[in-house]
Amino acid sequence: MPLTPMKQILDEAKTIGYGVGAYNVNNMEQIQAILQAARETQSPVILQASKGALEYTSMVYIKHLMLAAVEENPEIPLAMHLDHGPNLGVCKQAIALGFTSVMIDGSIDYDVSDKKGKHPARTLEENIRVTKEVVDYAHSMGVSVEGELGTLGGIEDETVASEVLLTDPDEAVEFVERTGVDALALAIGTSHGAYKFKHEPTLAMDLIDEVRANVPNTALVMHGSSSVPSELVDVINQYGGKLDKTMGVPIPAIQEAVKRGITKINVDTDGRLACTGSIRKYLGEHPDVFDQRKYLGASRVAIYEVIKSKMIDFHTEGHAGDYKPLTLDDMKEFYAQGVAS
Ligand code: G3H
Ligand code: 13P
Ligand code: ZN
Repeated sequence: MPLTPMKQILDEAKTIGYGVGAYNVNNMEQIQAILQAARETQSPVILQASKGALEYTSMVYIKHLMLAAVEENPEIPLAMHLDHGPNLGVCKQAIALGFTSVMIDGSIDYDVSDKKGKHPARTLEENIRVTKEVVDYAHSMGVSVEGELGTLGGIEDETVASEVLLTDPDEAVEFVERTGVDALALAIGTSHGAYKFKHEPTLAMDLIDEVRANVPNTALVMHGSSSVPSELVDVINQYGGKLDKTMGVPIPAIQEAVKRGITKINVDTDGRLACTGSIRKYLGEHPDVFDQRKYLGASRVAIYEVIKSKMIDFHTEGHAGDYKPLTLDDMKEFYAQGVAS
């Protein structure tokens, strides 16, 4: 099975009503862990690399690691996605590498920084302009595009807009109609990173209903979806780490969001927690070991366990064989007909 367009993966999920995890990746063990979970649960999967991941891996390594995952797992529909693309230039680089999907995070102007290194939020008009540029380029290559409306906390704390701005459902209509994005990231109260909430969160679930009704053909995306399980935080702290008490997005809240129309569920932090905890534990229990395959191998097992349970909880399980993947040439033709927007 070749690389799969993200639009197709999300359209299929919408038709049946399940969520697909979009897991951030940075190294081989993480990719292997996610694919082992996808194989065992027969789940379609989205592997995503942030700008930071592209820099860390000097781009070409992450590309080949993802392609190795495709080659080793021909029965799994797999999309290669750029997460939080800051501008057209980085989106073009990802497309040149063979990514089947890019996110342009036009809600923030990453190319401008104030004295404290903070980036300004973009107006709706500016967001539409930069997003449309990326859509025009990406669709001409058959590549899917995710845009964002509203701002999340976490990485977007770097914006000078001090409060988290929830997505406006009316703006969503205008944004989707004028840009032609395939997927829209909603700000519904989640944030990136480990420190999301002090108590059980109340997310703006009604907002998903409103946007779903307003833009029925666009995939909806939930960023900041890690659950930050206390077991993972506890292992880190038990073996010398120092993380504060915190809460993430509970699985029932994610399941509720999926029922209301979210199909792409972005997860990075839980993978990081599993990785860090397992390495700390392994080295804490085996102070004499200096073979990195031992502790990186332990991290692979821990990440696999966390991701496998998400594939089951998001109801992605069992859907890998539901459809035959389209090619980017099929998608080029589809977009050329102007059906997308
Ligand atoms: O949404 C952002 C991801 O957590 C990426 O984080 O830029 O540190 O790779 P990163
Ligand atoms: P978490 O920090 O909750 O894992 O969110 C990741 C994310 O949204 C990546 O785009
Ligand atoms: Zn994100």
